[in-house]
Amino acid sequence: MALDIAGRRIVFVGGKGGVGKTTTAAAVALHLAESGKRCLVVSTDPAHSLGDVFQVQLGAEPRRLAPNLQGLELDPDARVEEYLANVKASMRSLVHPDMYHEVDRQVELACTSPGAEEAAMLERMSELMVAEGADYDVIVFDTAPTGQTIRLLSLPEIMAAWTDGLIRHREKSDEMSDVIGRLSKTTARPKGDDLSHFESDDRFSHIRATLLRRQRLFHQARHLLLDEAVTAFVLVLIPERLPILETERAVEALHRFHIPVVGLVVNRILPAGPLGPFLEERRAQESAYLLQIDGLFRRLSQVRVPLFAKDVGGLDALREVGRHLFPSGN
Ligand SMILES: Nc1ncnc2c1ncn2[C@@H]1O[C@H](COP(=O)(O)OP(=O)(O)O)[C@@H](O)[C@H]1O
Ligand SMILES: [Mg+2]
Repeated sequence: MALDIAGRRIVFVGGKGGVGKTTTAAAVALHLAESGKRCLVVSTDPAHSLGDVFQVQLGAEPRRLAPNLQGLELDPDARVEEYLANVKASMRSLVHPDMYHEVDRQVELACTSPGAEEAAMLERMSELMVAEGADYDVIVFDTAPTGQTIRLLSLPEIMAAWTDGLIRHREKSDEMSDVIGRLSKTTARPKGDDLSHFESDDRFSHIRATLLRRQRLFHQARHLLLDEAVTAFVLVLIPERLPILETERAVEALHRFHIPVVGLVVNRILPAGPLGPFLEERRAQESAYLLQIDGLFRRLSQVRVPLFAKDVGGLDALREVGRHLFPSGN
């Protein structure tokens, strides 16, 4: 069987830490590139190793890895700073200058909250899916361990609701200040006050445009994510107890969010042939787990990748992995 991602424009590779996500994502991307697709591979795991697999240094901008293949690594820290500077400016324009100090304090607090990295990361991923989609035939995401990724993928909905709320709230308070403005028309006001009122309106239309843009971006990303003609989620595991448990939970959670899971990569299968008593014992355990995997994930297609003698690095090793992922060459 082959990994059935034919025709998909967005491929996510997920799974527990250390099972072979980066290796699989890199091999999938190289395979697609060599079959003539313009491909971008993106690492969203803070524990980056995508560059290592290709034996190059990767950063936030796409870098060429092979013909047709570009890669980048998203740095959550840098994204958070950029994102929060943005949020701070946005929030400031929503409040009276007396509140700036408090706004900054709140935003800095938010900066240390676990959601900040994810929000920043999600915005960039959404941009890649929606905007850069035009520059590539396929984008392959090498993701962080499953729990984090599922939270991330459920965020567009939350973020969309949040921007909706913020916009509505501001519209309400605009109506309110209109009413107050009309009521207090007879009261003479210093000129400076009026000016700052207009400036703040100007700034608000700018921030409203930003919020609307972000809202639209998240809605579009969510739409793509849930479209099974567009997105394929591939889960990688190894035939051991904990990765199997984690994969069960991941499949269930992804289904709950209606994210299309296409198949499993069962990695690090012991080679055929005599292995000696120690590894034969491991093989007996492996056989039992492989049966369990067949039973638990009957509805998902499955490919198996053998354990190689060495770590997987460089194009030749990735092509070898690719031959197991796509045995018939497609
Ligand atoms: N089938 C395999 N045979 C041998 N080594 C492998 C295999 N798959 C992955 N590896 C090695 O295991 C390590 C972890 O793989 P990696 O793809 O980085 O996992 P993850 O991204 O899930 O943390 C890497 O050193 C990689 O080269
Ligand atoms: Mg990895």
